[in-house]
Amino acid sequence: MTVPALSHLLAPLDLGFTTLSNRVLMGSMHTGLEEMPGGAARLAKFYRVRAEGGVGLIVTGGISPNRAGCLMKGAARLDDAHEIPHHRLICDEVHAGGGKIALQILHAGRYAAHAEAVAPSAIRAPISPITPRALETDEIERTVADYARCARLARDAGYDGVEIMGSEGYLINQFIAPRSNHREDGWGGSFERRIRFPLAIIRAVRAAVGADFILIFRLSMLDLVEEGSEWAEIVALAKQVELAGATLINTGIGWHEARIPTIATLVPGGAFAWVTAKLKPEVTIPLIATNRINDPAQAERIIKAGGADMVSMARPFLADPALVRKAARGRSTEINTCIACNQACLDHVFQGHMASCLVNPYACRETALVAHRTAIVKSIAVVGAGPAGLACAVTLAERGHLVTLFDQQGEIGGQFNLAKKIPGKEVFAETLRYFASQLAKFAVTLRLGRTVVADDVRAFDHVVLATGITPRRPPIPGIDHASVAGYVEVIEGRVTAGDRVAIIGAGGIGFDVAEFLTHAPDSDYLAEWGIDRQMRHRGGLIPAVPAAGKRAVTLLQRKNSKVGEGLGKTTGWAKRALLQQRGVSMLAGVAYEKIDDGGLHIRLGEETRLLAVDTIVICAGQEPRRDLQNALASMPLSLIGGADQAGELDAKRAILQATELGLTL
Ligand SMILES: Cc1cc2nc3c(=O)[nH]c(=O)nc-3n(C[C@H](O)[C@H](O)[C@H](O)COP(=O)(O)O)c2cc1C
Ligand code: SF4
Repeated sequence: MTVPALSHLLAPLDLGFTTLSNRVLMGSMHTGLEEMPGGAARLAKFYRVRAEGGVGLIVTGGISPNRAGCLMKGAARLDDAHEIPHHRLICDEVHAGGGKIALQILHAGRYAAHAEAVAPSAIRAPISPITPRALETDEIERTVADYARCARLARDAGYDGVEIMGSEGYLINQFIAPRSNHREDGWGGSFERRIRFPLAIIRAVRAAVGADFILIFRLSMLDLVEEGSEWAEIVALAKQVELAGATLINTGIGWHEARIPTIATLVPGGAFAWVTAKLKPEVTIPLIATNRINDPAQAERIIKAGGADMVSMARPFLADPALVRKAARGRSTEINTCIACNQACLDHVFQGHMASCLVNPYACRETALVAHRTAIVKSIAVVGAGPAGLACAVTLAERGHLVTLFDQQGEIGGQFNLAKKIPGKEVFAETLRYFASQLAKFAVTLRLGRTVVADDVRAFDHVVLATGITPRRPPIPGIDHASVAGYVEVIEGRVTAGDRVAIIGAGGIGFDVAEFLTHAPDSDYLAEWGIDRQMRHRGGLIPAVPAAGKRAVTLLQRKNSKVGEGLGKTTGWAKRALLQQRGVSMLAGVAYEKIDDGGLHIRLGEETRLLAVDTIVICAGQEPRRDLQNALASMPLSLIGGADQAGELDAKRAILQATELGLTL
């Protein structure tokens, strides 16, 4: 089978930023709009904005080729012509925006969260409560035909291609790996029989769509699970995928059930580009590198080094739809960079909610949140230049209001200035760089470095209080002891913690402080998580080598629930695992009795205990800071962010609330 020429996709081949749109793929993301009533129009707008933003090729979120393959009951599938109008709307908008779009075909296999789940063998995935039914031989053939039908329908709907999802532990991956394929018929056993399923699908799809259609195969190059594929098998499969008629091979990293984080903030940027580069000499069709590539300059470095022909960015396009255009025009400082927090995207999708983005609340709300120019220009004071104040000031100024942004600190950023000091969260600084560019672009007046008093803002038409929070000091006897420090002083380096530390409060900040205090500067992500760069073992796994933190840290909480339960769904487990590897003790259900020269006295049920520590760091929540509220009671006034609701620090809520306010004043 000859594969279609790529000239329309990849030319010209020089590597300047002007060709970036041909080199960057918007990676597949299921947003939740796929199943929402009226979702087609919203998805169409979501993708159109990104096509207009310069990305050459978009891959949709995973769509099932049949009912059994749906991730959940009622999830989107394309198995009948009556679905075509939904998809045509999307394709037409993307084409009108100057882009191309491929439909991702994803059969969930044993990850399906419903009773009809099927798999090569009846083996339950460790992350699923459901044991799948093993497919009968004739059902396997029908499933292959379902992929082909789905691809044909995609072509009829106007898509430029399809991506066949063969990684992340979904059905195709389940056939390929001995971990989940225990069949003894022609579809299991030897490697050749285990890869029959993906190859049959590629051939059937190519036959159904013809030669002039993009066919991407997302190949698991690093399973990160026991009994995953070994490197020689991955290479052999890639060569066969090419022969079977694929146009491009995209990289898949890690099954969903892998106990190694592959896309969280703590994963270094471009951490997996080496895997794609390792495969590069083995095939002649173009390869796409993925995961945690959030910076066009880094994308360009990967391509220039010859490690990949294209780079996939998924979440970076939630954070900034115009990423490619900005990079291409030399305006990279204006890019709103994805900080890999997962808080508003993957965490939402895993909880059955619509995806959006913490740093860009417009994502997936393109039809609902629209910045119209204001008819009446007001002078507005925004007090507090943390995430909420910044988002509000920029939104107001973009709409044409005259905005002055105040902060008592000498720099913008608020709590993000602390976050960026946590090892692995340095990328938070990019959000502040982005906001600084927007403040300049929309001519916001800055008044920094002086405590704001009521008289400073009385003359404005409206005041927005984004004054943030004050850390709470719990009323524990001895709280003023010299061994006690606040998290702000510790993270800012004004207090150096001793070798034995107790952290009171195990929310997001408590975990960050524990990370800060136990981080070994020479730690290596791959070694710390047991990833074998040499690929000598199945699944790419080797024993993890924990980076030894020099401090003994105990993380405490009053609640009886599991420590870290309130952390993000898709990242909390990794933070917990990392600290446990470093020997951090975690105690729940703690009552704090007193603090004295001996240390921290606690009670755990009936038992009293002395934690003989040198330093006690308080991360026990915060109170809203509303110093100016009473003095300005007679003025039009709005409260946003932590000043409105302090609870757990929540930048996602703060930025969304601030943006919504900015769009309405
Ligand atoms: C909200 C969300 C939904 C996703 N849905 C899919 C999907 O349907 N199919 C898929 O292959 N990958 C999916 N992914 C994974 C992305 O394609 C990508 O591999 C991952 O986000 C890492 O790349 P990034 O760092 O560029 O975001 C999803 C990711 C996110 C954040
Ligand atoms: S929510 Fe966080 S991880 Fe998701 S796209 Fe936005 S910044 Fe990136």
